Amino acid sequence: MKYYTLDQLSTLNKNSRKLARFAVIGNPVEHSLSPQLHQPALDDLGEDARYVRVEVEADQVGNAFQDLRNAGIHGINVTVPHKLEALEACDLVDPAAQMIGAVNTVVFDKEGSCSGFNTDGPGFARAIREEFSVDLGDLKVIIIGAGGGAGRAIATQCAIENCPQVILANRTLEKLHPMKEQLSKLIDREDLKGPRDRIEIIDLADPSLEQAIGSSELIINTTSVGLKATDPSPFPSHWVEPHHLIYDTIYNPERTRLLRDSRDQGARVANGLSLLIHQGALSLEYWLNRDVPLELMREGVKNALKE
Ligand code: ATR
Repeated sequence: MKYYTLDQLSTLNKNSRKLARFAVIGNPVEHSLSPQLHQPALDDLGEDARYVRVEVEADQVGNAFQDLRNAGIHGINVTVPHKLEALEACDLVDPAAQMIGAVNTVVFDKEGSCSGFNTDGPGFARAIREEFSVDLGDLKVIIIGAGGGAGRAIATQCAIENCPQVILANRTLEKLHPMKEQLSKLIDREDLKGPRDRIEIIDLADPSLEQAIGSSELIINTTSVGLKATDPSPFPSHWVEPHHLIYDTIYNPERTRLLRDSRDQGARVANGLSLLIHQGALSLEYWLNRDVPLELMREGVKNALKE
């Protein structure tokens, strides 16, 4: 079964030896790699649980929560386009998820309430530590595509981690004004004291983008430019210098034009596979309250990508 619809949920755990207890909801959801990421870990941990895909229509997320719970599901991942609707449907929302404005992980607890989290931001911080052996909070950062869903999560995490510089770049500049406002308020909080001007915004077409990139240590692509093998780099790759760390949130194709060119420029590069794995591992930690086998999750996704 590639995916279930809400109508099929009542049959989900009938005639099945292993009960479905975890799921990803989205639309489309057919190509989600979450089952291949989570199932090897669940099996290794001795959890008698299946992880399934469930297709949910827009405006149906609240109903879906009820149906999923009734069907015996304990935790879900939420993917495009339901992350905001999921936030609104949760009884409790983690403060970081609230700031990001998106929930990608939900726990249905025994008392009947559902709690929402966002593991994209913290998963990104873990990915940077793994890839480059540095703490995100120590880096001057520029996010190319900060107005998109992934860009927003990463930008919020950079503010939470207290990065010394956070430049938000986007093709549509208007999306960045409210974000700057919100993130500046966040870093003004007592526990995150820092100068307001650490957060800057810039249009992708602005000539000073070259200088903004030059002044950064970590350059993150969160645009969809690169998803097609023939796509160009989202900015001229000859601006990349050997001291740069380049993170492309795209993992398929494995090496985007940006990553290939940046490597040729002498920079250290990484693709979005580590983000996919760490955000998934954090979800599993929320559901199970225990450490999870990261390497098995990595292997599961790598095998799926080869298929
Ligand atoms: P989401 O991540 O919310 O689903 P998306 O439509 O997939 O959003 O877009 C993700 C990011 O890629 C956005 O920052 C988007 O820029 P806009 O906000 O201007 O739409 C960016 N993006 C998509 N195509 C692009 C392109 N050809 N050039 C530059 N940025 C692009």
